[in-house]
Amino acid sequence: MRGGCALCGSTALELILSLGKQPLANALLTESELAAPEPRYPLDLLFCDTCSLVQLGEVVPPTALFDSYAYFSSQSRTMVESGRELANRLMSSFLVDGGRVMEIASNDGYLLAEYARRGAEVLGIDPATNVVEVARDRGVPTICAYFSEALASSLVTEHGLADVVHANNVIAHVPDPVDVIKGIKILLQPLGIAVLEFPWVRRLVEGVAFDTIYHEHLFYYSLSSFSQVVDRAGMRCVDVQELDLHGGSLRVTLAHGDQDVSTSVGRLLDEEQRLSMTSGRFYAGFETKVAASLEALRAETAHLTGAGGRIAGYGAAAKGTVLLNAVPEVADKIGFVVDSTPYKQGRYIPGVRVPISPPARLHEDMPTHTLILAWNFAEEIIQKEEAYRERGGIFFTPLPVPRFHASDRR
Ligand code: TYD
Repeated sequence: MRGGCALCGSTALELILSLGKQPLANALLTESELAAPEPRYPLDLLFCDTCSLVQLGEVVPPTALFDSYAYFSSQSRTMVESGRELANRLMSSFLVDGGRVMEIASNDGYLLAEYARRGAEVLGIDPATNVVEVARDRGVPTICAYFSEALASSLVTEHGLADVVHANNVIAHVPDPVDVIKGIKILLQPLGIAVLEFPWVRRLVEGVAFDTIYHEHLFYYSLSSFSQVVDRAGMRCVDVQELDLHGGSLRVTLAHGDQDVSTSVGRLLDEEQRLSMTSGRFYAGFETKVAASLEALRAETAHLTGAGGRIAGYGAAAKGTVLLNAVPEVADKIGFVVDSTPYKQGRYIPGVRVPISPPARLHEDMPTHTLILAWNFAEEIIQKEEAYRERGGIFFTPLPVPRFHASDRR
């Protein structure tokens, strides 16, 4: 357990939720790895009474997590469309005369490719060799490294300053977020902007999305806690927007400090204060709600299989690993999970060891019910798998309570 808050050092840390010892959520197992024991690490969520940052109690060394990464952003139409919309908007407002765009944790280059297509100069930075290869193959120059303040200086020497820096779904993953924002500050030209997206802890708690808590996600930000990170790095939040992505995210724009600050920032900070997100009160009762959600899922799946149903899972997402390991009784009832990512197919979900197959298996085996583990893409998956639904297959999502998505054709 950490001795003090990762941001302010305070020892006034409250335990919000304990999920016990869990395997690494993205460490999918190959057939040959099934024989070996899996390492498990505690998964506890803490709230800092002093700076209000929600954080994990234990930090797993990052090399165990990110050297190879099973998630390819381009697998999701929702992500590609969100990236296209963002690139289009900034190209037609901020980068009208072209410019240089850098992205931290650029994954397979899905976002930078949009900028490159429209004539911007791009550079990605990502530590996972397998996703970097895919990005380079599609023509997105990418440095394979962990981003830091130290790396930023050498990037500027070699490539010059950036007009726009993106960092989507990474600031919650890095052990030293202040160092990363300081690095972004070094990368940015004086009037440049950085756009960061991360899940908003408000939506996690309200939606009982406890399955988004795993070892890779060290921090669960509110705007209040995130703006303290930004302050410490000497930058400023100048705009904030709420997104539906990943169950509810914030897109925050940072600048060196010369730009006007949008009223959206003060409004959202006030709202968080009103909701008691800056005091532990907002988080009281979360553990009880998680237990109730798990019980509801247990009961529903028992009912389905008791009535002769056969259940599959959809999306070998990290959140699926967390959910299934939190209720192994449900995992036992799931014959297989389908996922469109070739890297994941043929592997097994850590801990509970459910096999992962290509989506075609859904049509071959026709399970009566399919639990959408990647619920953040439920709409996209349901639309894509219309043929399964037309043949009578029923999709359901797990949280906060099981919800069935009947075919709109029937
Ligand atoms: P992801 O969103 O990365 O969730 P987490 O952060 O919890 O890992 O995972 C979504 C998974 O769902 C990913 O493995 C790809 C898979 N997927 C499909 O198989 N088919 C689809 O149509 C979509 C949208 C996702």
